[in-house]
Amino acid sequence: MSNNIPVPLLDLKPQYQALKPELDAALARVAESQYFILGPEVECFEKGVSTYCNVDHGIGVSSGTDALIVAMMALGIQPGDEVITSPYTFFGTVGSIVRLGAKPVFVDIEPHTFNIDISKIEAAITPKTRVIAPVHLFGQMADMGSIMELAKAHNLIVIEDAAQAIGAKQNGQPACSFGDFGCLSFFPTKNLGGFGDGGMVVTPHAAHADRARQLRNHGMEPKYFHAHVGGNFRLDALQAAVLNVKLQHLDTWHEQRRENAAAYRKAFEKAGLTRNCDDLINGDLRGGILLPEELPGNYHIYNQFVVYADQRDALMEHMKAHNVGCEIYYPLSLHQQECFQNLGYQAGDFPHAERAAAMSVALPIYPDLSPEMIDRVVEVIAAFGTQ
Ligand SMILES: Cc1ncc(COP(=O)(O)O)c(C=O)c1O
Repeated sequence: MSNNIPVPLLDLKPQYQALKPELDAALARVAESQYFILGPEVECFEKGVSTYCNVDHGIGVSSGTDALIVAMMALGIQPGDEVITSPYTFFGTVGSIVRLGAKPVFVDIEPHTFNIDISKIEAAITPKTRVIAPVHLFGQMADMGSIMELAKAHNLIVIEDAAQAIGAKQNGQPACSFGDFGCLSFFPTKNLGGFGDGGMVVTPHAAHADRARQLRNHGMEPKYFHAHVGGNFRLDALQAAVLNVKLQHLDTWHEQRRENAAAYRKAFEKAGLTRNCDDLINGDLRGGILLPEELPGNYHIYNQFVVYADQRDALMEHMKAHNVGCEIYYPLSLHQQECFQNLGYQAGDFPHAERAAAMSVALPIYPDLSPEMIDRVVEVIAAFGTQ
């Protein structure tokens, strides 16, 4: 082995060190103001993000999960309604649907992008369907052109779960600017991550925006008068202050992640480790890995760089033993989660999602990775096959 530097899956400390003067000043500004909940920092951040996403309205909320809940509450989603989404996503996508009493209806993913397979959506539409909620998983957008066409043909609402995909684009158009709502997360591991939880709902519709703004604060308008029951879904000023600083650097970080992805592609190719999707479907990656595909027209922001590997669990043991970080996103497709057994799905219903859960692994991709660290990751994976 040419070097043995440790490579964590994610290290946010270099980013903090680089921005420390700006971030510390922003935190101090809030402390001086003693204005902690909503207020000018949050309003500035709402404007910044909605402009960034090219959508008219932004409503800062307490998390990405709460963004989904507020969006669906604003739409009046209720028991009996069906929401079509992917079974291969973070729990919050689907937990939020169930918390409103609605029914998630799953559609399998495409293996090469991990995103919902649009060719299978139409068959899942019923008279009870109200929403299609595509997830832009790992930072690459689902096929929004086709989804919007389908939604229009069937008179359905579209909520983009862009928790992992702020700044991703499709044919130049940003994530969250296609659907009726876009939902964002600022969980610290996201490309735009706060110093805690945070989220935002964006929408082009003024009336939806007004309703969502009320709902995030107990449905209150004016003060202490409640026409609707909302909740405490407010974003706080400290998070907004941090995120206002970081938003200015987001495009640079996306580019660095993309450069890291390109470096991986080159290095895995050179090492003879890359396999194609047919190998995956045929059940034999021949000791290699399948890299994530970036589809033409897509600008992938690589919140995660997820590959498929033979003997995934053994490979992860090997990587960890050599101080290379890795993680499974996600080890169990949501249709197989214990809490969703009442939905009536079974093993085998979504074979691509199940295969992704069994064979995929995320590699380090954060902006501050050095070329030596990328080489080290590839070298350790290459050594697994020959040990
Ligand atoms: C696809 C997806 N949806 C929703 C969420 C929920 O966001 P949060 O963790 O901010 O509640 C996440 C966050 O991990 C996510 O990745």
